Amino acid sequence: MPTSNPVPYYDPAFVRQLFEEMATTYGVVNLISSFGFARRWRRQCVRAIPIRPGDRVLDLMTGMGEIIPDASRLIGAEGSVTAVDISARMCQRARKHTGGRVPCPVRVIEADVLSVDFPPESADVVLSSFGLKTLSSDQIRTLARRVHDVLAPGGRLSFVEISVPPSHRLRGPYMFYLRRAIPVLGALFLGNPENYRLLGVYTEAFGDCSDAYRSFAEAGLVVEPVSYFFGCATGVIGRKP
Ligand SMILES: C[S@@+](CC[C@H](N)C(=O)[O-])C[C@H]1O[C@@H](n2cnc3c(N)ncnc32)[C@H](O)[C@@H]1O
Repeated sequence: MPTSNPVPYYDPAFVRQLFEEMATTYGVVNLISSFGFARRWRRQCVRAIPIRPGDRVLDLMTGMGEIIPDASRLIGAEGSVTAVDISARMCQRARKHTGGRVPCPVRVIEADVLSVDFPPESADVVLSSFGLKTLSSDQIRTLARRVHDVLAPGGRLSFVEISVPPSHRLRGPYMFYLRRAIPVLGALFLGNPENYRLLGVYTEAFGDCSDAYRSFAEAGLVVEPVSYFFGCATGVIGRKP
């Protein structure tokens, strides 16, 4: 993608390459650049819906499996996690991050969430943290239908994504931070600053989870929007009737 082009590129192959390149620095840059908020929002995403011992959890766009420890504490040894990510290096890190460290079995699958075969009604819970922004509106609609199909009746979902806050006072400094400061942090941690700049571009184009909320509702799920810390992150929670 040309660097002057403000429109994000949603081809899964492009997104895959982006995260292949960021895999070694993503964890530390994400932690520092969000002032620890990312960790807190993941935890809130998990706690926003009922998750019970024995549940089968599907974690979409798992990255390094950051959300899995919190979820696995709730589902215990009888539960299971299937985690999906398109980046091979992110998957490797997710296996390392969770291997032997969580009470339940974890299966990490390297695949595109838009095309991988999910057995129908095979999940009690679908979770996803910070994966929506690199999907286009059409892709989010496709994903919403897939989430509907993979959830068992009564199954629950919770998604969270960094968002452009509605307050003008917050929006200016927050977007300055995303556009300018995060690429510098990316460079400091030996990453490619352009990749981290792109994350800000995706976030700006994404806006917030309102479009995703509509897509989940259209797919037949009973959903509600959620806002975290004055809208700096937003989410969608709900269930399959
Ligand atoms: C910003 S990271 C979020 C990682 C993690 N869930 C977290 O909480 O930090 C987004 C992840 O989504 C993955 N991803 C993006 N598009 C995908 C797709 N179509 N299918 C599967 N994974 C995808 C990327 O490889 C990347 O690891």
